[in-house]
Amino acid sequence: MYTHFFQLGTTPKLSFAELTSVIDAQLLEEITEQIIGMTATDVVDVQALQNRLAGCVKIFENLAVLPTTTPEDIAKAIADHTVDSRINFALGEFATPIEERIDVAEIKKELTQLGKSVRFIEGNRTGISAAVLLHQKKVQEFVIIATPNCSYLARTVTVQNIDDWTVRDRRKPYANRKKGMLPPKVARMLLNINCAYDHSKSRVVLDPFCGAGNILLENAMLGVAGVGVDIDTKSITGTIDNLRWWSETYEKEHNQQVFPGDATHVPEQIASSVTAIVTEPFLGKPKPKPEQVHDIFRGLEKLYLGAFKNWRTFLPNNAPVTIVFPHTMVKDLEYNMTHLIDKLLPLGYTTVSGPLEYSRPDAIVSRSIYTFILKK
Ligand SMILES: C[S@@+](CC[C@H](N)C(=O)[O-])C[C@H]1O[C@@H](n2cnc3c(N)ncnc32)[C@H](O)[C@@H]1O
Repeated sequence: MYTHFFQLGTTPKLSFAELTSVIDAQLLEEITEQIIGMTATDVVDVQALQNRLAGCVKIFENLAVLPTTTPEDIAKAIADHTVDSRINFALGEFATPIEERIDVAEIKKELTQLGKSVRFIEGNRTGISAAVLLHQKKVQEFVIIATPNCSYLARTVTVQNIDDWTVRDRRKPYANRKKGMLPPKVARMLLNINCAYDHSKSRVVLDPFCGAGNILLENAMLGVAGVGVDIDTKSITGTIDNLRWWSETYEKEHNQQVFPGDATHVPEQIASSVTAIVTEPFLGKPKPKPEQVHDIFRGLEKLYLGAFKNWRTFLPNNAPVTIVFPHTMVKDLEYNMTHLIDKLLPLGYTTVSGPLEYSRPDAIVSRSIYTFILKK
């Protein structure tokens, strides 16, 4: 019997990979692409989980198995699970296969007959958006999760703090749009996925292409030590400014260090402490002309291969490397890093996760996320 459900965000495959890296996959079951059931055997700190996961919009606690999804049965189950006689409630539904929408007016009527004074807060079919629900402290949101075998009544217990994610996305002092900006949520998902493979005693994450420092900022949020390297001095000073801003905003020390340098020749004094690499390297121009793509991808492949060769000289055995690779389509031809991946195997890098796709709707170059383990 499920104890909780996770509602995943707009990149469900990537979010599911993140979830399975934080929670034992044996406890999880995919109900729909967006809803994951968990059968927890111990007490779970759901708020801590919610805070950690970038790809999870809401967490629901399972309240009951519904005999049917008729308004009478739903109303009865809601009434059984509310102590107060007054209910401010919202309702979301996730049905597979998609069925007719549940009749909220009927549920209200039934609840009134059961002696409850009810106010219904309108949302969309899957409930109130996390951004709104975050500020509606007095609203109880119920969700119906209907599968062909069984239907559940669940209650929203935690919501993603969108405001806080937006602060790190938009308010930090340095950003460089031309170089491509890794959204903080994606940076966090990369770190969470990577962490599941890092079995070292004291984790130190290196981002050798640190750019504006989005990976280091999320690493600071997780309280993990980190090191950033970038070839561009503006990026270095920008990252230092962002980290200073982070410390002031969250009133905490960040334990991240930043150095100018080349990702293909990571300075020795940094390299010795590193236990894992998490990075979004230079991905080429965001909007390349079709005739440039071939040469750009060959150049990137050379850069990445040089970097992977250097990293194996200092990474410990079994160290995980989580990295974003670009891919694009030009005139029905796919450009990606498959050739590079073939060359990484003889160097000792085995793929353990990926490709996981992430792309903005209007992007020409999309991102594929891979995790490799280095066997020495
Ligand atoms: C896509 S950005 C990284 C974005 C970064 N992950 C972030 O969250 O902001 C790529 C960065 O790689 C840097 N770069 C390019 N070639 C490099 C090299 N050989 N060594 C180190 N950094 C390099 C660029 O200056 C740029 O800041």
